[in-house]
Amino acid sequence: MFDNKTILITGGTGSFGKKYTETLLRLYRPKKIIIFSRDELKQFEMQQTYNDSCMRYFIGDVRDKERLNMAMRGVDYVIHAAALKQVPAAEYNPMECIKTNINGAENVIHAALHNQVKKVIALSTDKAASPINLYGATKLASDKLFVAANNISGSQDTQFSVVRYGNVVGSRGSVVPFFKKLIAEQTDHLPITHLEMTRFWITLQQGVDFVLKNFARMSGGEIFIPKIPSIKLTELAKAIAPDIPIKEIGIRPGEKLHEVMCPQDDSYHTFEFEDHFVIGPTIRFYSRSNDFSTNQLGETGKPVEHGFEYNSLTNEDFLNVEQIAQLNESLGI
Ligand SMILES: NC(=O)c1ccc[n+]([C@@H]2O[C@H](COP(=O)([O-])OP(=O)(O)OC[C@H]3O[C@@H](n4cnc5c(N)ncnc54)[C@H](OP(=O)(O)O)[C@@H]3O)[C@@H](O)[C@H]2O)c1
Repeated sequence: MFDNKTILITGGTGSFGKKYTETLLRLYRPKKIIIFSRDELKQFEMQQTYNDSCMRYFIGDVRDKERLNMAMRGVDYVIHAAALKQVPAAEYNPMECIKTNINGAENVIHAALHNQVKKVIALSTDKAASPINLYGATKLASDKLFVAANNISGSQDTQFSVVRYGNVVGSRGSVVPFFKKLIAEQTDHLPITHLEMTRFWITLQQGVDFVLKNFARMSGGEIFIPKIPSIKLTELAKAIAPDIPIKEIGIRPGEKLHEVMCPQDDSYHTFEFEDHFVIGPTIRFYSRSNDFSTNQLGETGKPVEHGFEYNSLTNEDFLNVEQIAQLNESLGI
């Protein structure tokens, strides 16, 4: 599907973008892969590894509509991964987070429509489901913009969908590198905000593969959610450093005890497929199908029970200490 196609990745120098690029280059022969992001150093460093002739590096900010318009000329597929994603930074700098995550999303939509891009997938997060922090709220607003964009694409037929998933094991600024740093500094304890805390847990490669697959599945308007395991934070700490005591330090502002990916209130338009869920739009589409029970690959889902919630606490699939340790080892973290 990506052979001889031009793909643009906003936030292409981030953890997701690099893994996506690596996977595209391994599995396909794209015409061009355009990396769109702000920092020239990150682009320079990425070029040292990814320098195939199809690679293009484009300095730009998703807040800059004209630059995005220019970057999307001749593009077939867009993955929108650029975001400000640190919860505390968003709380302290709300307008910066809004400008990148919401205004940036709007600019991506306009540029995609203007350039008749075929398909766009925007990355979202479990924090966008019933959000309690600004990061999550901006990502929910972004999800809504991408879903609604399917109604304004009209005859151009650009399709917009969203992929929502949970914590990526070992990603920049996340808990595993934080624990590793403390251990390297010979900490006498590992801090955990709440001993009961659970999180959804996905590897970067699983996230990338899920996005790749959804380009084939999508009709436009869906929020795709993978079925993935949960972990308890205390089990993670034991898997990383069984001999270091755990200290509870109190829940942080904007932090949930458990995360949700499919909220209860969306249950009446959520479908369960074999390895994922789809939340259909709350709005009606006027010029395309409103049936999200069957996807473009012919896979069929069944409506979930009313009141169903996909929650990291009630998830049927949990990794134990041994499984977490094995996963970390397989990832080299
Ligand atoms: N990591 C997770 O645990 C996780 C979980 C669920 C969902 N997600 C979502 O997945 C996506 C990718 O996350 P990630 O882990 O790859 O993030 P990341 O490693 O922090 O990378 C973010 C990327 O966005 C770029 N960026 C930031 N602001 C930008 C702007 N205004 N204009 C253009 N580019 C900008 C950054 O490069 P520059 O700074 O150079 O611009 C970088 O390339 C995000 O949308 C995030 O919300 C992540």
